[in-house]
Amino acid sequence: MKSWFLSLTVTLVCIYGTFGCSCFPGDPQDLYCKSTVAIIAKVTNMAYGEGIPGITAEQFYDVEVSHVYKGDVAEGTFRVYSEGPESACGADLDVNKVYLLNGNLSGGALLLRYCDLVSKLPLNFPDWVFPLETYYDCRCKVPRYYSGEGKPKNSCVYSERFRCLPGSGALGDLAECRYSDQVDDCEWQC
Ligand SMILES: *[C@@H]1O[C@H](CO)[C@@H](O)[C@H](O)[C@H]1NC(C)=O
Repeated sequence: MKSWFLSLTVTLVCIYGTFGCSCFPGDPQDLYCKSTVAIIAKVTNMAYGEGIPGITAEQFYDVEVSHVYKGDVAEGTFRVYSEGPESACGADLDVNKVYLLNGNLSGGALLLRYCDLVSKLPLNFPDWVFPLETYYDCRCKVPRYYSGEGKPKNSCVYSERFRCLPGSGALGDLAECRYSDQVDDCEWQC
């Protein structure tokens, strides 16, 4: 019995270790816009739920919210969690680091899913609040594929995205899809 359990555990580790979590890389603007919550928060504590820690167990984090971009969340202590570790498409956060966290609320806590995260790494400049709410224009979409002729209204063509001049203030020096009054449509802007 015991050896069965052991070999099952080893097999599970191998499965998760081999395949990990794979997802189609989402567009950050899209991920931000379809999340009901986006915050900057420092992780203060971490605890495992039921299951095998680091493999199947839920991961609960206490965080200290320092900025709210969107969502029904107050600054201060808050709870975020994931259904498993990163290898099972959850989120592995380090205690004492500051993150941009986004997703939807579930049972009063923010549920983190690896594939939906705008930013997977801790923030390099935790005190600097980048104005994401004006940077990402949620009136606009960037579909990867669309059928039919021409581009749908209020969208930008993914393949036409261009680089901005260094120092333009754009994230990663890439143009963003934003609404323009002049053309009454969305277009790539620096
Ligand atoms: C959040 O919920 C909305 C519906 O309210 C859904 O469209 C969206 O995909 C969800 N976003 C995430 C990140 O789960």
